[in-house]
Amino acid sequence: MDKNVFKDTFLWGGAVAAHQIEGGWDQGGKGVSIADVMTAGGNGIPREITKGVLPDNYYPNHEAIDFYHRYQEDVALLAELGISCFRTSIAWSRIYPKGDELEPNEEGLKFYDDLFDELLAHGIEPVITLSHFEMPYHLYEAYGGFKNKQLIDFFVRYAETVMTRYKDKVNYWMTFNEINNQADGQHDLHVWTNSAIRFEPGDNHEEIVYQAGLNELIASAKVVALGRRINPDFQIGCMMAYVPVYPYSCKPEDMMASIKVMDRRFFYSDVHARGELPNYMLTYWQDKQFQIDYTSEELEALKAGTVDYIGFSYYMSTVTTTQAEVDGYPIADFPAAKITSNPFVKASDWGWQIDPVGLRYTLNLVYERYNLPLFIVENGFGAYDKLEEDGTINDSYRIDYLSQHIEQMALAVTKDGVELMGYTPWGIIDIVSFGSGEMEKRYGLIHVDKDNQGQGTLTRRKKQSFYWYQQLIRK
Ligand code: BG6
Repeated sequence: MDKNVFKDTFLWGGAVAAHQIEGGWDQGGKGVSIADVMTAGGNGIPREITKGVLPDNYYPNHEAIDFYHRYQEDVALLAELGISCFRTSIAWSRIYPKGDELEPNEEGLKFYDDLFDELLAHGIEPVITLSHFEMPYHLYEAYGGFKNKQLIDFFVRYAETVMTRYKDKVNYWMTFNEINNQADGQHDLHVWTNSAIRFEPGDNHEEIVYQAGLNELIASAKVVALGRRINPDFQIGCMMAYVPVYPYSCKPEDMMASIKVMDRRFFYSDVHARGELPNYMLTYWQDKQFQIDYTSEELEALKAGTVDYIGFSYYMSTVTTTQAEVDGYPIADFPAAKITSNPFVKASDWGWQIDPVGLRYTLNLVYERYNLPLFIVENGFGAYDKLEEDGTINDSYRIDYLSQHIEQMALAVTKDGVELMGYTPWGIIDIVSFGSGEMEKRYGLIHVDKDNQGQGTLTRRKKQSFYWYQQLIRK
């Protein structure tokens, strides 16, 4: 692959999120976040969400990799790696510990001032997600999470505070991380991390998840418009999880099922990019007799706050079928169809199907749909790594995964004309896994000595993939 196919301005970077690296969960005036009440799970073992922080549980995000205290050492390593941008998030609960205060926490603001200064001093541009699964826990307890429209104002206030404070340090922003994770409304963890909804007995969960998602879309649009006023040079995007759902066969019903399942996830970027509620969703809500609450002022806000680019994560693809004899798990809104595995691709130890061509497919699909610049802000390979006695980590499987995806990304640019802003592989340094809470589901090019039980020295070591990526992106 010839890296010169990418423009000089192409952002080669790395990505993480505050709650998965920082630790310092109760330091510097930070409030409890929704990530702080998630216990460790395991491969195939779900994480639990506890009612507040309980004394006898292990919460892996509380210390994470202690980036809060070690960021200078880590930024020096990232600079040695040679990246030109670093995607992380601001922990909302460091800035507004409870979420509903009128005044921000100065110590939290100062932490990000120092971090951004450190990055910029090393020639690394911060790329910032405003909300990456870490809203203040109090907003769940006192307001019921994003189903409550008051959260729109709280989010806008928080965004205004940080966008104003860092207007000369941060240019690239994203509003809600993987906002469409909650799309099927079934996975508790996804609904929790996106929206922290407090359900009441008798609630229709799917309806409320749509209400929360729409409230987030409105909040996002208001922040896009506000950001443009704060600094017209800002580039403000959305952040989607794109998992293409192929039809299992060319059976017409399979083709149709694929569109319906994809629409459900595309809904969120359709609103972000086009500024209006798509007909397929309005029809669905009507069929289901969902009472989704929105005003004409909010519809105008959606229109006025469309995004500058589409940021997205890509890890895998999956498949849908309507064929009775194929095994799979059912889909809520399209009962005739189910999700199954793809016989043509292999999967990781966590069952994530590895499909580099799916990245090119996604880039084409999304670019044709929106005609907006795209930014791959997450892509990576969660794997068990072996620390050799001599201190090396020979992660050739990770190099294979990343290089095959980068090759497809290059084809999308050179052969398909896709406009691509950058590439930030996920978990550039080992992090706490979001889904399982494990440390040993490792994504990093930099190893962190810590295990699933929280034991380890936290020493950082460069993996084989570090040297490979360093070489690849060298100017
Ligand atoms: C994305 C999230 O879903 O995928 C990250 O934005 C997450 O926060 C990443 O870590 C990988 O998922 P996991 O469950 O392997 O950590």
